[in-house]
Amino acid sequence: MILVTGATGNVGSQVLQQLRAAGHPVRALVRDGETAARRFGGGVEIAVGDLNRPETLEAALRGIDRLYLLAPLTPELQQQEANAIEAATRAGVRSVVKHSNIGAADDAGSRFQRWHRAGERLLEQSGMAWTFVRPTGFMSNALDWAATIKSQGAVYWPGGDGKLSVVDPRDIAAVAVQALTEPGHEGKAYDVTGPEALSTAEQVQTIATVIGRPITYVDIPDSAARASMVEMGMPASSVEGLLEFMALVRAGQAETVTNTVLQVTGQPARTFEAWVRENAAAFR
Ligand SMILES: NC(=O)c1ccc[n+]([C@@H]2O[C@H](COP(=O)([O-])OP(=O)(O)OC[C@H]3O[C@@H](n4cnc5c(N)ncnc54)[C@H](OP(=O)(O)O)[C@@H]3O)[C@@H](O)[C@H]2O)c1
Repeated sequence: MILVTGATGNVGSQVLQQLRAAGHPVRALVRDGETAARRFGGGVEIAVGDLNRPETLEAALRGIDRLYLLAPLTPELQQQEANAIEAATRAGVRSVVKHSNIGAADDAGSRFQRWHRAGERLLEQSGMAWTFVRPTGFMSNALDWAATIKSQGAVYWPGGDGKLSVVDPRDIAAVAVQALTEPGHEGKAYDVTGPEALSTAEQVQTIATVIGRPITYVDIPDSAARASMVEMGMPASSVEGLLEFMALVRAGQAETVTNTVLQVTGQPARTFEAWVRENAAAFR
């Protein structure tokens, strides 16, 4: 039995769906059991729990041999991963696929990468088998631009001219599913990217072409991006982490394109244009 955390999120929901479609016994850790039961339908066991509350994890992990560990991007990420890893070790979990971040390293430029490296280290020391799935920026982050595309025909973002090899969440999930269900992935750290590096202007132009309307890209300073994200209710530390990551993007440090998706899943990574076509309604 495989336990999937983050099972209602961008990537976790895909991991759950792909495992279920392939017939693997799967359990989802969720905070709201009733909503999850309605959303998932049959074929998924539901365990109500919270990564912030270690006492809820013991029952969720009972009978589990493989864990997909995804913690949400909040300042609690490190503590949540530590809680899950400790509970999994005690429960006798055999292997963990940890959703991480490209460039995860102790001295990385973004705190997100440093937070994820801390979780990776805990796993390395845990005695359980591990695989790290380290994605770059998700294509679905573009949904954050939908509101101003619809209201003003504009995208405000501190992207400069930097390119980012954005990846479809389904492809990240597909890599994780292989690592969860096939031998040979233990001890590997996979950098997962899309098939091409695109600037913010190129991503915005792709959306404009697909929806058939002009969109202006306005490159804004960090101060304006910070003010708007704080106003949206993002925790200060997450805002700073995102700005740190965007500084890496602007400096050309997020352009790397890997062929991990093809190598691990046998399918080519999906393009941003294909993702936009499938999600065009969100931008109209
Ligand atoms: N976005 C990117 O471009 C990007 C790039 C690289 C790596 N990452 C990493 O991807 C991960 C996903 O981040 P995301 O922000 O996009 O979120 P997400 O996966 O779309 O959503 C967060 C998930 O975590 C669950 N969750 C929230 N709080 C929880 C708690 N206390 N206990 C248990 N589950 C909880 C949520 O469930 P509910 O339904 O209960 O809210 C939801 O399923 C993060 O680790 C991030 O660092 C993101």
